[in-house]
Amino acid sequence: MKNKLIFIIVIFIFLFCKLQNEEDKKKDELIQTLLLNSINSNCKVYSLSEEPTFTELHQKNVFENCLKCHNSTIHEGNLDLNDYNQTKNRVVPYAPQESLLYQTITTGSMKDYSNSCINDAVRRWIQYGAKE
Ligand code: HEC
Repeated sequence: MKNKLIFIIVIFIFLFCKLQNEEDKKKDELIQTLLLNSINSNCKVYSLSEEPTFTELHQKNVFENCLKCHNSTIHEGNLDLNDYNQTKNRVVPYAPQESLLYQTITTGSMKDYSNSCINDAVRRWIQYGAKE
């Protein structure tokens, strides 16, 4: 009887510790994501104007991560992101959610190359008319 009680107590302690561990893991993951995001935010979007133009996106290097695969010599998916017309062809001005460019970086095949600060810059560019 006594042994059983001890056994049950030990199980409880074990489960309790395991739960604590899960909580810690979640916290660690959150801190990791926050840290990664702040490192990734080297696109200096925070100094972008509220209604950025295409020229401004390039001046602030928003597409830095993307240009190695989307430039005038290597243009994967037939897209050179230096080219205003080619880029604009992939957006619906004033409608980010309907724009191929915004969709591919937020939920599509390019999302691993993007981050919240690139997404936000692109969203604002489109939202305010995707101006040159
Ligand atoms: C390592 C290379 C690489 C990087 C980096 C990269 N892309 Fe791509 N991208 C591709 C390839 C390959 C395709 C074509 C296949 C596909 O659509 O998934 C593509 C397709 C696309 C398309 C679809 C073009 C179309 O009309 O079908 C868009 C939009 C795009 N990329 C935007 C971006 C943006 C914005 C970034 C930066 C956040 C980026 N890509 C980073 C390789 C890359």
